[in-house]
Amino acid sequence: MSTTPPPLAADLDAALRRLRLRAMRTMAPELLVVAKTQRWRPDEFLRTLVEAELASRDASNAAGRMKTASFPVTKSLDEFDVAASSVPRATFDYLVSLEWVEAKENLCLVGPAGTGKSHLLVALGRHAVEAGRRVRYFSATDLVETLYRGLADNSVGRVIEAILRADLILIDEIGFAPMDDTGAQLFFRLVAGAYERKSLGIGSHWPFEDWGKFLPEHSTAVSLLDRLLHHSVLVVTSGESFRLRESRQKRGGAKPA
Ligand SMILES: Nc1ncnc2c1ncn2[C@@H]1O[C@H](COP(=O)(O)OP(=O)(O)OP(=O)(O)O)[C@@H](O)[C@H]1O
Ligand SMILES: [Mg+2]
Repeated sequence: MSTTPPPLAADLDAALRRLRLRAMRTMAPELLVVAKTQRWRPDEFLRTLVEAELASRDASNAAGRMKTASFPVTKSLDEFDVAASSVPRATFDYLVSLEWVEAKENLCLVGPAGTGKSHLLVALGRHAVEAGRRVRYFSATDLVETLYRGLADNSVGRVIEAILRADLILIDEIGFAPMDDTGAQLFFRLVAGAYERKSLGIGSHWPFEDWGKFLPEHSTAVSLLDRLLHHSVLVVTSGESFRLRESRQKRGGAKPA
């Protein structure tokens, strides 16, 4: 039968609280009993306590980074069926290695609706957070809106710098809505700021030659793409929409001829 370990001395408890060593403070009473009964060496006891504190900090930092990333959905790499997608296995493995984030390369995912662009972006983003990286996710519309707000109160430079503190910035749904002149310029500022400094991961259903259709100036589209594509992994997703596939399977229907 386990008995409740005696509480820590009040002054020690207060000191650990003041030092914000919460894991140590909660674990110490029980660990002191274990260490005594099992005759741990003093360094073993200290190491166990410190490791517990570190593990707890790492977990809470990861939770904070996950929250800051603002992923719109929970998608994982395990759920991504590589064989059923048009992404080559070698490319998928390279993306999972996160070497491209280390090398400050970009990832450009281009392909029609329902082919896994957002799934991959979010799943890679979550994976990067779990690997200790700082990540931010935006839809292009939300990003431009955020930058516009910065323009309104004269803080756009600071807003961009704050976004660029992330190691990986994911911008999805580029081209779903057309950008006006100011929006395109703000978007350009962010992409130019990230160039060779940070990794960008983008998703769009528009092939690059069509970016002039949602960007107001041809020259902006050219300058943007020049920076985006210079050091980048390009993945073209193709095939039938997974959404259509799933809804057909649910209805039990066959693929229309
Ligand atoms: N290879 C895959 N394995 C498992 N699920 C997938 C795969 N590709 C897509 N899906 C699923 O299909 C649905 C649509 O995928 P997703 O949202 O990533 O498409 P998209 O390419 O971003 O489309 P859109 O251009 O309309 O935004 C999601 O529920 C996603 O999880
Ligand atoms: Mg999408």
